[in-house]
Amino acid sequence: MELEELPGVGSATAEKLREAGYHSVEAVAVATPAELAAAAEIGEAVAAKIISAAREAVDIGGFETGEKILERRKSIRKLTTGSKALDSLLGGGIETQAITEFYGEFGSGKTQIAHQLAVNVQLPEEQGGLNGSAIIIDTENTFRPERIAEMATAVGLEPEEALRNIHVARAYNSNHQMLLVEKATELAEELKDTEKPVRLLIIDSATAHFRTEYVGRGTLADRQQKINKHLHDALRFGDLFNAAVMITNQVQARPDVFFADPTKPVGGHIVAHTATFRVYLRKSKGEKRIARLVDSPYLPEGEVVFAVVREGIRDA
Ligand SMILES: Nc1ncnc2c1ncn2[C@@H]1O[C@H](COP(=O)(O)OP(=O)(O)O)[C@@H](O)[C@H]1O
Ligand SMILES: [Mg+2]
Repeated sequence: MELEELPGVGSATAEKLREAGYHSVEAVAVATPAELAAAAEIGEAVAAKIISAAREAVDIGGFETGEKILERRKSIRKLTTGSKALDSLLGGGIETQAITEFYGEFGSGKTQIAHQLAVNVQLPEEQGGLNGSAIIIDTENTFRPERIAEMATAVGLEPEEALRNIHVARAYNSNHQMLLVEKATELAEELKDTEKPVRLLIIDSATAHFRTEYVGRGTLADRQQKINKHLHDALRFGDLFNAAVMITNQVQARPDVFFADPTKPVGGHIVAHTATFRVYLRKSKGEKRIARLVDSPYLPEGEVVFAVVREGIRDA
């Protein structure tokens, strides 16, 4: 369904909406009237009418029976990180239909874990994989195919084959990054019935663009709202494709605030509420890293040690 088919949306309005990143009726359906009004330069009342028409058209956010939810939850799978210790901290690996956030300072191993998961997702289920492919939204230009090849070889995958099953897009700014989740949905739809359906979405880093773009502006609420929408889109992707969603978040050093918690992640409580699992990473001696599970709704808090080595993520 095209945007123009919505009542009240002419070609000029549709054009403005697309320019602002609303490429589908679904994107309109989850917008707020204020957002949409600003994007299309229309009144909020008109925007509200358009949104409600979009919601009817795409059947979004309605009620489901508990039975149906239980059915969907039965299909949840777990993806190994490469470290038994780290897997056990997460209750067996990173879950599909959920967001797992890794946050920590620079060099704590977030991007290394992202690379390892993109390799492991391709493994058969007996080996802790999901027999699928991966999509990576790379915001800091830290994706390294050479590193993938190294990790793939270490788990017995053909490096070229492993690289073919990883789809990477570079995000140039936060709007582009948000748009890429939509693109990811299209790609996953295309690959749905192939041998390697998409089972993993990585956003590395989920928050860096938001942080730099909104710095010093009186628009913190706006930033939080955008991050919130972005993460909900990512979570929806996970539900739609029974995929795991892994995001990274670099912690904010706050030299300006004495005794402030230096481990405060960007995005604050918004990210905290959307991510189902949050893992705080910190460096230890040499290749060792410490992972702590924070605020999990149903897993015990705990800490484990793992290692980043040439082969990838392993037990220490
Ligand atoms: N090929 C490799 N062999 C062993 N360790 C590596 C290799 N590549 C990166 N590392 C380790 O990973 C660290 C970088 O971690 P990274 O995941 O990029 O951090 P960030 O949390 O900033 O994303 C390096 O400092 C190094 O310790
Ligand atoms: Mg990184």
